[in-house]
Amino acid sequence: MPLTDYYDLLLPAIEKEMKACVEESQGEGLEELYSMLAYHLGWEGPRSGQKAQGKRVRPMMVLLSNAAAGGDWEIALPAAAAVELVHNFSLIHDDIQDNSPLRRGRKTVWKKWNIPQAINAGDSMFALAHIALKRLAKQVPDAIALEAYRILPEACLTLTQGQYLDLSYENRTNLSSEDYWPMINGKTATLIAACTQLGALIAGANSETVENYRKFGEYVGLAFQVYDDILGIWGDAEITGKSIESDLVEGKKSLPVLFALEKIPSFSERWNNGPIAIEEVPKISTMLESEGVLEFANTTADNLTQKALSILEQTSEISDSRDALQDMAKKLIKRQA
Ligand code: IPE
Ligand code: IPE
Ligand code: MG
Ligand code: MG
Repeated sequence: MPLTDYYDLLLPAIEKEMKACVEESQGEGLEELYSMLAYHLGWEGPRSGQKAQGKRVRPMMVLLSNAAAGGDWEIALPAAAAVELVHNFSLIHDDIQDNSPLRRGRKTVWKKWNIPQAINAGDSMFALAHIALKRLAKQVPDAIALEAYRILPEACLTLTQGQYLDLSYENRTNLSSEDYWPMINGKTATLIAACTQLGALIAGANSETVENYRKFGEYVGLAFQVYDDILGIWGDAEITGKSIESDLVEGKKSLPVLFALEKIPSFSERWNNGPIAIEEVPKISTMLESEGVLEFANTTADNLTQKALSILEQTSEISDSRDALQDMAKKLIKRQA
């Protein structure tokens, strides 16, 4: 079965599981809070639907890893819902932290409501993610459920540490491209690593295999963030659904920026001369591309993906689901959104 068929099969099941979790939070007088969550998840509001829901990369990774490791993916659905809820909690807060007005082509929660309510909606989503796991505990041995209950909050802690680094880097001038890796490992790769780890764990794989799946996810996650940085400068805002100016204008120390600060004196001079204005972005991104920065970032994403694929190949037997997982990892660094 090709990856597209897996998407057709798994996405509706993921959506159903997430809805069951989020609906548990409904209550009298709380309709607006539920709407904030349902809006952010792409279920409600203008232009709700697939684009507003996002790609659901992380739950797909849980379920495909689970199947590739010999599991029955339906059992892993609560974990799939849990990681996607964690991801969405992090996005609601990230959009406040990054001052981003747009997400998936629509107003961010803080823009549509306000910052205090968006912080609280993110907190609700965070709590719901953990509650989602109780549905797992009913279906797997206690030892597996307990391990899942450890993996998820640890990944959340690491994510906030990565976000701390990301935000603190905005005001730091003495950074090198070495400083980039712990930051993206925290903010992005650890959660994707938790996805593939949870998938294999719930399949009942042995600890060495579970660890290999974790590493596979970690490299996929690193490549994923490198590519997110590429889209943050060279992506088409109509397709990414995020405003294209924000990474350069917000002074984000993305991989292209850190690399250019080291290699291109004229860029370094401009960067150190004060914040970049929206009007300057087209000229700067064209210059960075002509200096080979885009190519460097693409090669980096490619190498990380190759590393991920070689780990997966060593750890998993040939199967349709493994093929789909490989295919997904390759496509993530060619995506447009
Ligand atoms: C965006 O993640 C934030 C990062 C960690 C790079 P995604 O690109 O997976 O966002 P959605 O869920 O598909 O919108
Ligand atoms: C990604 O943050 C990581 C988290 C949200 C935890 P970014 O700020 O790099 O992602 P986008 O580009 O806003 O989606
Ligand atoms: Mg951010
Ligand atoms: Mg952001």
